[in-house]
Amino acid sequence: MNHFLDIHKTDPDALRLIIDQGVAMKQARADRPKGTPDDEQPLAGRMVALIFEKPSTRTRVSFDVGVRQMGGETMVLSGSDMQLGHGETIADTARVLSRYVDMIMIRTFDESVLTEMAEYADVPVINGLTDRTHPCQIMADVMTFEEHRGPIKGKKVVWTGDGNNVCASFLHAAGQFGFDMTFAGPPQLDPEAEFVGFARDRGSKIVIERDAAKAVDGADLIVADTWVSMHDAQSARERRHNLLRPYQVNDALMAKAKPDALFMHCLPAHREEEVTSSVMDGPHSVIFDEAENRLHAQKAIMRWCLGV
Ligand code: CP
Ligand code: NVA
Repeated sequence: MNHFLDIHKTDPDALRLIIDQGVAMKQARADRPKGTPDDEQPLAGRMVALIFEKPSTRTRVSFDVGVRQMGGETMVLSGSDMQLGHGETIADTARVLSRYVDMIMIRTFDESVLTEMAEYADVPVINGLTDRTHPCQIMADVMTFEEHRGPIKGKKVVWTGDGNNVCASFLHAAGQFGFDMTFAGPPQLDPEAEFVGFARDRGSKIVIERDAAKAVDGADLIVADTWVSMHDAQSARERRHNLLRPYQVNDALMAKAKPDALFMHCLPAHREEEVTSSVMDGPHSVIFDEAENRLHAQKAIMRWCLGV
C-alpha cells in the first residue's frame, strides 16, 4: 500500500512508472466512449472515498470517472457534511473510513489534515490539493508535456505569477524529473524556500526572476495559475492583482519563449487576468489535454497506491 501525498515524497522511479502507465492506459482506451469500462478492471470490488473541503470540477469528475472506468465505485463527500467539520478528529475519521473504503482522496486546506489522515488510515490516501501542494495536477502536466514534446528532463519551465500550491508541486517535479524552472513573479509571492531548495538540492537549475520577459527567454513551457487561490483571503484580491498584473501571459510574452513553447494552466482560469484568451485558445495552449490527462494520470496513481 502506498500513499500519494506529494511528488517529493514519492520515489522518482515510481513517478516515472505512474506517468508511463497513465500514457499506456490512455492509449488503451483511445476513441472509446467515456462511460465504457476499461478492458482491465483493477479496481473491481473497491470503494473509493473522495472528500472535498474546497470546490472542484476537474479533480472531482476525473477521480470519479477514473475509478468507474477501472471497475470500482466512489463515494463523494463534502467536508462540511461530515463530522470532520464538526469536531471529530482527523485520526478517528481516518480509522473509521479505513473500515469502510479501500482508498481515500482528500482535498483540504491545511496540509496537516492530509498527513494526519495518512498517518492513521489503513488504506492509501491521495492528495487532491492542499493550501501548499497539488501533486496530481503536476503528474498530469508532466504527462501532457511529454505527450507533446518528449522527455521533460533538461527542459526549461517558466512559472508566472503567484508562487502557490501548484507552483510548489512543479518545483518538486523539477527535482524529481530533472527539469529546470524559472519563477517569474513579485518578491511578495515567491514560492517557499523549502520547495526551491528541494529542486536545487536535486540538481535542477531554479531561477527567481522579476522581469517576465527575461524569464521566458528560451522557455519550453510557460505555466500560469489563478492570482487568488481558494485558500487566499478575498480581501487580498486587489493587492494581489496589482502585484501580479506585470506577469500576465499574453501573446507578447508567449512570443518571447521558444517558437514551439507550450502553455499550461491547471484551470479554472480567469481569462484576461493571469492569461489572455488569445493564449488560452491559441496554438501554444494544451490546457484541455492537460485537463483530460488528470483522468489518465490519476488512474495510474490509484493503481500504484493499491498495487493493482
Ligand atoms: N485543476 C484543478 O484541480 O481543478 P478543480 O479545482 O476543478 O478540481
Ligand atoms: N492555486 C489554485 C489551484 C486550483 C486548482 C487554488 O488553490 O485555488
